[in-house]
Amino acid sequence: RTTLSLGVLGVAMIVGTANAEVRDIRIAVDVPYEPMEYRTPEGELTGFDIDLGNALCAEIGIQCEWVVQGWDGIIPGLMARKYDAIMSSMTINEQRREQVLFSDPYITPPSAWFAPADVEIGTPSEETLEGMTIGVQRGTLQDNYVTDMYGDVADVNRYATADDMVLDMDSGRLDAVFLDFPIGKSTLIDSEAGDYKVVGEMITEPKEYFGEGFGIAFRQRDQELADAFNEALAALQEDGTYDEIFEEYFGE
Ligand code: ARG
Repeated sequence: RTTLSLGVLGVAMIVGTANAEVRDIRIAVDVPYEPMEYRTPEGELTGFDIDLGNALCAEIGIQCEWVVQGWDGIIPGLMARKYDAIMSSMTINEQRREQVLFSDPYITPPSAWFAPADVEIGTPSEETLEGMTIGVQRGTLQDNYVTDMYGDVADVNRYATADDMVLDMDSGRLDAVFLDFPIGKSTLIDSEAGDYKVVGEMITEPKEYFGEGFGIAFRQRDQELADAFNEALAALQEDGTYDEIFEEYFGE
């Protein structure tokens, strides 16, 4: 009798523990970063990350609450437990892996250079960028890359948000910007803003900067949470939900 009830209790405890690992969470995002994360005219959060994130939470069976957080403090905020995850077009790279645990990549866009249509600029190099004023979002891999590669020959202006950077380019203060390709395409090429062009090739190397695609970041200890998101991602890729969301933001 005693053995039996202990056995039942044991099972209950195992089940209880398993569920407790994947609890409701808060997810941080830096906006605007269209089409990945931005607000509708009514002020509601939307974008590829938001829709995919919500679909992942639904698949796992948890409630997720989005927390808007500036890019600069987004990893410190995770460490300080202000939220439990970051889903904000964050590129998986070795440097960040030292601080956070990443999910599998959920999208893998390149970086690219964008310039006003009337700026004469050849394929970006130390020669062509000499004396130019270049914009990047502070603390991004694009900031690291441009600073390391061209910091000595060009003026690098660092912006807290991608939006501030676009505004400055619109008012003629920047010769070029370097950012994740989909964001430049959406906010510069396809927008009502000025006349812009892509300069040179899509950039994906060296991997040390450009990493392995965008991942969801968790605290190092939260392996169960990361596993749950990886499983859910695979399920949504399998059942067509991922493709539907992709089509909505990147379909022609
Ligand atoms: N992918 C780039 C990086 O990880 C920039 C991401 C910026 N994200 C954002 N929501 N502002 O460094």
